[in-house]
Amino acid sequence: KQALNIVKMKQMKANGTPISMITAYDYPSAKLSEEAGVDMILVGDSLGNVVLGYNSTIPVTLDDMVYHTRAVARGAEHTFIVADMPFMTYHASLESSLSGIRRLMQEGHAHAVKMEGGAEIAEVVKASVQAGVPVLGHIGLTPQSVNQIGGYRIQGKDPEDARRLMNDAKALEKAGAFAIVLELVTEEVAAAITRELSIPTIGIGAGRFCDGQVLVYHDVLQYASPYRAKRFVKTYADVGSIMREGIAQYVEEVKSKAFPSEEHVFNADEQVLTSLYGG
Ligand code: KIV
Ligand code: NA
Repeated sequence: KQALNIVKMKQMKANGTPISMITAYDYPSAKLSEEAGVDMILVGDSLGNVVLGYNSTIPVTLDDMVYHTRAVARGAEHTFIVADMPFMTYHASLESSLSGIRRLMQEGHAHAVKMEGGAEIAEVVKASVQAGVPVLGHIGLTPQSVNQIGGYRIQGKDPEDARRLMNDAKALEKAGAFAIVLELVTEEVAAAITRELSIPTIGIGAGRFCDGQVLVYHDVLQYASPYRAKRFVKTYADVGSIMREGIAQYVEEVKSKAFPSEEHVFNADEQVLTSLYGG
C-alpha cells in the first residue's frame, strides 16, 4: 500500500474525497489504525490526556513526542504520520524550533509536524516548509493555549473571532502549510474557511463541511480516557468495557484457580521427577 502524501491530499480536496485522520500513540494503536485503512495518523499531544493521565497537553515534552512517534512509526509503516510539536517548542527561536522538528522526523520518523496557532506562527511554519518539512496548521481551539483562552470553548462565534480565524487560515496557507486542523469551530465559519482555501481543512468539532475529520483514538473506541465525552465526538466501539471485563475475568480465574488449567501447563518427564525425589 502506498502512503498518502501531501500532493494526493490536495487532490482529495479537489475531488471532494474526505480525508480520515485518527490519533495514535503507540505500536498497537498505530497498527490497528493502519489496518483499518485510515488516511493519516496524528501523534497528538493529546497523548498527555489520554495516555499519560495529565489534565492538559501542557506537560507533554519533545522527548515524550519523539518516543511515542517512534512507536507509532513502527506500527504503521505505510501511513502518513504527523507529530505534534508540544507546548513552547516552536516559539523561542527558529533554530530551536527546527531542531525539535528535526528530532520528530529523524528520531521519531514522522512525515510531517503540526503546530498550533495562526498568523503569529507563520514565520516558523514558513521556515519549516523551506527546510522541506510538511506542516499541518491547527487553529480554533488550541489546547496548548487553554490557560490563555480560559477553557475549552467553541471558536468563531462572533464576527471578530470569525474574521481572525479566516485571516489565520490564510496566513498559514500562505506560509506553506499543507492542511489545517480546525478544532471546535462553528460549522459556518469552518465551511467558509474550507471554501476559501486551496489546502484541505481537517475538522474536529468543526461541523460537516471540512475536507477531512480527525478524532482522538480513545474517543472513537471509548478506551479509558480521563475526560468526559464531548458532543462533537462519536464513539464507534466500547473497547474499554470489553477490556475491563477481560481483565476482571482473568483476576477472577486466578483467584478461583480456574487459570492456569491443564492446557496451559508444561510437564516434565518421569526421569526429572526421580532426580528430584527418588533415591
Ligand atoms: O493532540 C491532538 O489529538 C490534536 C487533535 C485533537 C487535532 O491535536
Ligand atoms: Na494536539
